[in-house]
Amino acid sequence: MGFPESFLWGTATASYQIEGGAFEDGRGYTVWDDFCRTPGKVFSMHNGDVACDHYHRYKEDVKMMADMGIRAYRFSIAWSRILPEGRGEVNQSGIDFYNALIDELLKYNIKPCLTLFHWDLPFALHRMGGWQNPEIVNWFAEYAAVAARAFGDRVKFFMTFNEPQCFVGLGHVSGEHAPGNIMSRRSVLEMAHHVMMAHGKAVQAIRSLVPDAQIGYAPTSNPVIPASDTLEDIEAARRAYFAVEDKPDYMWSVSWWSDPVMLGRYPEDGLKLFEKDMPEFKPEDLELMHQPLDFYGQNIYNGYRVKSDKKGGWETVERPVGYPRTGNGWPVVPESLYWGPRFLYERYRKPIVITENGCCCADVVSLDGKVHDPGRIDFYHRYLRELGRAIEDGVRVDAYFAWSVIDNFEWAKGYSDRFGMVYVDFETQERILKDSANWYAEVIRNNGANL
Ligand code: NOJ
Repeated sequence: MGFPESFLWGTATASYQIEGGAFEDGRGYTVWDDFCRTPGKVFSMHNGDVACDHYHRYKEDVKMMADMGIRAYRFSIAWSRILPEGRGEVNQSGIDFYNALIDELLKYNIKPCLTLFHWDLPFALHRMGGWQNPEIVNWFAEYAAVAARAFGDRVKFFMTFNEPQCFVGLGHVSGEHAPGNIMSRRSVLEMAHHVMMAHGKAVQAIRSLVPDAQIGYAPTSNPVIPASDTLEDIEAARRAYFAVEDKPDYMWSVSWWSDPVMLGRYPEDGLKLFEKDMPEFKPEDLELMHQPLDFYGQNIYNGYRVKSDKKGGWETVERPVGYPRTGNGWPVVPESLYWGPRFLYERYRKPIVITENGCCCADVVSLDGKVHDPGRIDFYHRYLRELGRAIEDGVRVDAYFAWSVIDNFEWAKGYSDRFGMVYVDFETQERILKDSANWYAEVIRNNGANL
């Protein structure tokens, strides 16, 4: 497969999911610390207090990545580790931790790729309204500036938000994620508006402090796959992918979250749909959201098929009985790594970065002491072939981050869902490379030529 020479093969994690050290060295309390302590929210009352103990074992973890030949590591920093109250006083110990991590990565020539926000909002800010408070635009930009000032001499690859659909949608529409308080549609739309303004203001802050930074955004989507390669079905899939729909989980739309950031406008169909709930906004808000970006990131795990309904719309094609699924029941849809990047590149015209892709499997340590995960290898193999096909068809894709390098705290599922290429025994913190880790190392060595 024709992956470019400069292609960045990476893996991804997030602070709350791996770090642990939740109450050490001045880290502030977060909405996830609190959510995990609320009965009935997280599987078996699991929490991220210790997680993978990466806070103490980061050297071992970075060495493992180096042994796998990983070229880029996408991690998030915990806002409350460097600003325990979310704003105001900087906690030097937090800065020291990330400095040490970044230096360790650079020692092995692994490119540090920093996500500013992967859901662990400082609790102090939540108490002041969190994403609903318009002031959060400034708080987030200040936080971005602190991070850029501290790390920007060595970190040149930044992402503002990871999956804003989740911390707003799961956090306030369905309540499955922190903070879990269900809000009216008007308030949720207001939050989305503030998140995108915060994105824009943070990009400005990073740009002014780190002029040679590459900056992007990392929302998620479930790509829509045309049932055939006829023009009608392709057009139907494109429309379905970018449509804003009136569903109970209405906050998942890719265009609602990306058109303002990438094109400087809200999608018309969404504005119409949300008309009576839409907060008033100024044209300058959209200008702020729409900052020039260097890449457009996207977390992609699966998708679905549609065909044209012959009336300018689409019909969803049901999955056949026995359709393949991963360990947590998500459908395996490799073509989502072809059509997703292709449609996104056509619409937004920026280099695509796959900021996450991967799967959960029911991994166990076998009698031979190893963890055999052929299902995960097969998953990655199929998806990466499709990504390679997209590149061959002219889609510019610069990087791919597998989720995840290591088993970790899977939010409301606690430690019950394993997504890592490295197995973690959560009792002993022992790490065991799964077969997929060795397989991925081989893919990287061959720059995808063996896919
Ligand atoms: C997306 C999220 O960004 C990540 O935190 C999560 O663990 C994976 N998906 C798997 O669900």
